[in-house]
Amino acid sequence: MRLGVLTGGGDCPGLNAVIRAVVRRGVRAHGMDFVGIQDGWRGLLDDATQPLGIAETTGILPRGGTILGSSGANPYRFEDGPAKVAATLERHGLDGVVAIGGEGTLGAAARLAEEGLKVVGVPKTIDNDLGGTDVTVGFHTAVQVATDAIDRLHSTAESHDRVMLVEVMGRNAGWIAVYAGMAGGADAILIPEQPFDLDDGCDHLRRRHASRSSFSIVVVAEGAVPKEGTLELPEPPVDENGFPRLGGVAYHLAPEIEKRTGFQTRVTILGHLQRGGSPVAFDRVLGTRFGIAAADLVAAGGWGRMVARKAQDIGDVTLAEAVAQRNLLPPELYREAEVFFG
Ligand code: F6P
Repeated sequence: MRLGVLTGGGDCPGLNAVIRAVVRRGVRAHGMDFVGIQDGWRGLLDDATQPLGIAETTGILPRGGTILGSSGANPYRFEDGPAKVAATLERHGLDGVVAIGGEGTLGAAARLAEEGLKVVGVPKTIDNDLGGTDVTVGFHTAVQVATDAIDRLHSTAESHDRVMLVEVMGRNAGWIAVYAGMAGGADAILIPEQPFDLDDGCDHLRRRHASRSSFSIVVVAEGAVPKEGTLELPEPPVDENGFPRLGGVAYHLAPEIEKRTGFQTRVTILGHLQRGGSPVAFDRVLGTRFGIAAADLVAAGGWGRMVARKAQDIGDVTLAEAVAQRNLLPPELYREAEVFFG
């Protein structure tokens, strides 16, 4: 069997671990051969491919990014997109595709699968907000980067008696914010699932600074939103794929906090640092296990499905189920993080 492999959407640490494992397992256990599709679905729209075999995947396990390149291109946003995808597959004699992606890439995969494309998905996104799986590739590395940053910000916050806003990624879900905030001992965490009231937040900071400490670390997810009617924030611009381009909410909150509390407030936006560099061991292992499972799923004819982790086990779900509902942070987990606020 001959397969295309693509990585779509925002990159993340651990993608190369998946690619390596799909190829290694596919070649050795199932006698498959592979073609690398460049830049996600774009490579199938533009017919951009590269060789992909054992040689090309040797030594890539610890490397960040993706050797295949990535983009958020969605075939359904291009004229005759799905037909172009099918034509490229045909031209290269490909029997199917392994698509490694988040909700955009796998959302397109689910629709293409309904129309007959043979595709198996692998879940990745640092945001950890994809349905059908407990965890996605890249999440734990992003959490580690954010935790290290929070650790470092503590000492400078303390030296200057400041409020430090640390903005992390997470457009729909507060997974990175809550995990890194808990790991780094944050004094407050703002996430998309729990709209905030800035007045309450400022009261909380005032109480903390009056009684216990002269500084605070506040972790803000980029998608955090105020409670309706409490604060006006500008609408984010829309990117080339039609998604809101987030990032920078902390810049709007910092002057408001300073005005209301009188505490000097500084902002650190971690941005794409969270997506760069070498994956932590968890993501290398998860990516490797997902890659093995994806090759096995293809061999078993599991088209239209996505490999997934439930507790310790790697299984699979339909692509449709994976993209039907986002994996949002359970409120109980936020309640646990709240124990340490203030
Ligand atoms: O989806 C993952 C993510 O990291 C989001 O948290 C973030 O908003 C987005 O990607 C940014 O993507 P880019 O700047 O690459 O378009």
